[in-house]
Amino acid sequence: MNTTATNSASQTAIRVQGITKSFKDLHVLRGVDFEVKAGSIFALLGSNGAGKTTLVRILSTLLKADAGTATVYGFDVATNAGDVRESISLTGQFAAVDEVLSGRENLVLIAKLRHLKNPGAIADELLARFSLTEAGSRKAATYSGGMRRRLDIAMSLIGNPPIIFLDEPTTGLDPQARIEVWQTIKKLAKDGTTVLLTTQYLDEAEQLADRIAILHKGTIIQNGTLSELKQLLPAAKVEYIEKQPSLEDVFLALVGDTGEIDSADGRTERAVSAGKESR
Ligand SMILES: Nc1ncnc2c1ncn2[C@@H]1O[C@H](COP(=O)(O)OP(=O)(O)OP(=O)(O)O)[C@@H](O)[C@H]1O
Ligand SMILES: [Mg+2]
Repeated sequence: MNTTATNSASQTAIRVQGITKSFKDLHVLRGVDFEVKAGSIFALLGSNGAGKTTLVRILSTLLKADAGTATVYGFDVATNAGDVRESISLTGQFAAVDEVLSGRENLVLIAKLRHLKNPGAIADELLARFSLTEAGSRKAATYSGGMRRRLDIAMSLIGNPPIIFLDEPTTGLDPQARIEVWQTIKKLAKDGTTVLLTTQYLDEAEQLADRIAILHKGTIIQNGTLSELKQLLPAAKVEYIEKQPSLEDVFLALVGDTGEIDSADGRTERAVSAGKESR
C-alpha cells in the first residue's frame, strides 16, 4: 500500500465530491458531497431507496459513479480501486456468513483467502473480541441474528482495514442484539477504525454517530453532529394539553374507588384530571 496516501488520509478518511449515479432514468444520486474524519463514526441516514447502498457500493469500488470523485484513505475509487480495496472492508446489507461452517471456520476461511499467516490464531482472537469464543465451534446456522451479525463484522475486520463500511448493520435485529452490535461498532471506532454506516433508524444514528448526514432525493440535505441537527428545530417548549379521556380513564372513573360525582358535561372530575398532562 502507498504510504504517502496514508498520511494524507490522517485527517480525512473519506471524501465524496459531486457523486452522481443513475440507473437508466432513475437518478439515484444527484451530486453527493461529504467528508468523514479519520477515526470517527459517520452515519448516512435515508429512507428505503434513498441510495445508501448505491453510495456504499461506489465507495467500495463495486460500482462506478457517473460523475464526481471520491477518495477513500487517500485513494481515488475510480483510478486506484485496488488500494481502496486494501484499505476497507464492507459488511453488506445481507450477512455474508456461511451457515454450514462454524463461526471459527468462517473466520479461518477469510484469513486464508486474504493469505494471512496463522489464520487459526486470527480467528481465535476475533472470536474472543466479539464474545463468540464459546459459540466458535458451532455451525453459524445455529447462531442468533445478533451473533451472526457480530461474526459478519468480525469477518470483515480480518486484515485490520482502517476503514469499514457497514450497510444497515442492525436491520432485522431485536433490541438486545442491536445493542450488542452498537457496542461492537463503538469499540471499533474507539480503537481508531473509521466507520461509515448506513441506517434507516434515527435512534441508531443518534446512539452511534459523531456526524450524521441525511441522504434525500439524491443529495445530502443535512450534515452535522447530533446537537447541530437538533438545533435546526425550535427549542422544545412545555405546553399543557387537555386530552379526551381514554376508555381506561372512563372505566377508572366509573368503577374507581374515589366515588367522584359526574360533572355537568357528563365526564367525571377524575376522568378530566387524568387526561391532563404535560408534554
Ligand atoms: N443495479 C441497479 N439497477 C437498477 N436500479 C437500481 C440498482 N441498484 C439500485 N437501484 C435503485 O436505486 C434506488 C436506490 O437503491 P439503494 O439500494 O441504493 O437504496 P437504499 O437507500 O440502500 O435503500 P434500502 O434502505 O432499502 O436498503 C432504488 O430505487 C433501487 O431500486
Ligand atoms: Mg440499502
